[in-house]
Amino acid sequence: MARHLITSALPYINGIKHLGNMVGSMLPADVYSRYLRQRGHDVLYICATDEHGTPAELAAKEQGIPVDEFCAQAHDAQKAVYDGFNLAFDYFGRSSSPQNRGITQEIARELKANGFIEERAIRQVYSNADGRFLPDRYIIGTCPHCGYDKARGDQCENCTRVLDPTDLIDPRSAISGSSDLEVRETKHLFLLQSALAGEVEAWVDERADNWPILASSIARKWLTEGLHDRAITRDLDWGVPVPADTWPDLAAEGKVFYVWFDAPIEYIGATKEWADQDPDNRDWRSWWWESDADVHYTQFMGKDNVPFHSVMFPATLLGTRAPWKKVDVIKAFNWLNYYGGKFSTSQKRGVFTHDALDILPADYWRYFMMANAPESDDSSFTWEHFTATVNKDLADTLGNFVNRVLSFSRKRFGDEVPAGAEPGEAEARLGEEIARLLAEYEEHMEAIQFRKAAAALRALWSAGNSYLEEKAPWLEIKTNPEGAALTLRTAMNLIRLYAVVSEPFIPTSSAAMRAAFDLKDDTATWVTADEARALTSVPAGTPFTVPPVLFAKITDEDLEAYKERFGGEAAE
Ligand code: MF3
Ligand code: ZN
Repeated sequence: MARHLITSALPYINGIKHLGNMVGSMLPADVYSRYLRQRGHDVLYICATDEHGTPAELAAKEQGIPVDEFCAQAHDAQKAVYDGFNLAFDYFGRSSSPQNRGITQEIARELKANGFIEERAIRQVYSNADGRFLPDRYIIGTCPHCGYDKARGDQCENCTRVLDPTDLIDPRSAISGSSDLEVRETKHLFLLQSALAGEVEAWVDERADNWPILASSIARKWLTEGLHDRAITRDLDWGVPVPADTWPDLAAEGKVFYVWFDAPIEYIGATKEWADQDPDNRDWRSWWWESDADVHYTQFMGKDNVPFHSVMFPATLLGTRAPWKKVDVIKAFNWLNYYGGKFSTSQKRGVFTHDALDILPADYWRYFMMANAPESDDSSFTWEHFTATVNKDLADTLGNFVNRVLSFSRKRFGDEVPAGAEPGEAEARLGEEIARLLAEYEEHMEAIQFRKAAAALRALWSAGNSYLEEKAPWLEIKTNPEGAALTLRTAMNLIRLYAVVSEPFIPTSSAAMRAAFDLKDDTATWVTADEARALTSVPAGTPFTVPPVLFAKITDEDLEAYKERFGGEAAE
C-alpha cells in the first residue's frame, strides 16, 4: 500500500467544459484514482476551479454581477456536472480560496528571500476610460499588414501575424471601446527562471524517463528552448494580491499575481482546504512535504498544460528551497476533436459536458472517452463512432450478457445462484483466460495506459460471451440441467468479477451489477488472480435479482437527433 496524490489540471472557471477538456484531465484522473483505491492504496484526488484572470472578470461583467459572485455560481455549476459524471474527488476546491492566497503569498516571499523574484519596470497600455492596464489581447485596432479592423494587440486573426499593441492603427479598448489609451511605465514582479534553469533541467532529467512519452517529449522540447524570466504579476482587480509586507509599493498599486502563478499552487491550496474541513484527522502537509512521506504524485492534463507543470511549476517550487513535494509522473493527453475539427468553447462547437449528461448517463460517456482516449495521437469524436461503441461494447457485450444470464437462470432455477455440476475443462480454460486478461488489465492501469486497459476490460467481457456461446446453456438445459446450472453459476461469477473490475470506468453500472447478488461479507474491492481462475466467489445458493437493462441501445433515430442537435459534420 502506498500513498498516491493525484491532481487533474484545474478547469477555468468561465464556462461549462466540453468533452475534450474532460477526457484530458479529470476523467482519467478519476479512473486512475478509483483503480488505486480499489487496490487498497491511500489516495488523495484533488482538483479545483481555476478562478483568477481576465476571462473571469469579463464574464462577470457581461452578466452584470460582481466577479466573486460569478465565480461562486460558476464553481457550483461545474461541480454539479462533475458530480453527474461521478468524479470522486477527495476535494474540489477554488483557487480564489483564502488558503491558496496564503500559500501563494508565502511561496512568493520565499522566492524573493532566495533571490529569485525581482521588480522590473515595463511599458504597458493603460485605458483611461476603463481605469486599468489592458492585456495585449484586450486592445483591438486595424492591422498594419492587412487592414483588418478587428485585429487584437497580440495577433491579427485575419492574416495571423504576431503583433505588438503599439503596431495597431486606431487602437481601442476591447472592454469599453474607448480609444483614450496611453502607454505607461509600470512595475511588475519577475520570476528569474533563467537562474533556475540548470536545476530544473537536472530535475526533469532525473524523472522524465518514467513519464509517458507525450509529457516527457514536451518537457524536453521546452527546456531546449530555454527557460526565460517571466512576469508573474498583473494589473487586475481579481487575483491573489501581492503581499503588502513584502512589496508595499506594488501592493498599493493593486497588483495581483498572474493566474498561471497561483493556479498550480492551488493543488496545495485545495489540499489545505480539504484538511481545514477536518483538521483533527487530515494533515495537508503530509501530502506536500517531501521529507515527511513516501507520497507518489501523478498529474493529469492536456498537452498544452505540460510546460507549466513540467518546468514552470517545478521551477517555482525548487526556488523556494523548501521541501515541497514535486510531481513524480505527468500523464498528458492530445486533443479530442469533433469530426476532425476543434471542440471550441467560444464557437460552441462539439459536445459540452452538461449536454452530454442531459442525453445519456455518465457511464456511456466515461467508457467511450477512456476507450478512445487521445493518448498517442489526437482522436476524433463522431456520433457514429460513439453510437457504435456504446451499442457493441456496452449494450451487446456487457449489458446483454448480464441480463441474459440472470434472466435465464431465474426463469429455470429461481432466485438463487444454482448449484449443479462441478467445474470442468471449459471452466478451467475460462479461468486461465480471465486471470490472464485481468493481469493485462492491471498492467495497463499501472502504466496509466487507458486505451489498452479499456481493451483488456472489453476482452474480459468478451470472454464471458465466448464461454456462453460455447456452453449454450439454453440447449444444455434440455439434456443436462446440472451442466446448465454450472454454466450459469460460472457466468454469474463473471458478472460479479465484471462488477468489481469495471468500476473505475463505469461506476454506476458496476454498482448495479454488484447489487444483483446478495452476498454475505461483501467487502472485496478487487479480485485476486486465484479468484479469477476459480470463478467461485459467488457460491451456489446466493440470492440474486435481475437488474434493469444496464445499457439501452442508441437507435438510428437517436443518432440522427444527436447529429441534428449538436451539428455532426466536418468543420470548415
Ligand atoms: N485552467 C488551466 C487550463 O484549463 C489549467 C490550470 S492547471 C493549474 O488550461 F495547475 F495551473 F492549475
Ligand atoms: Zn492582419
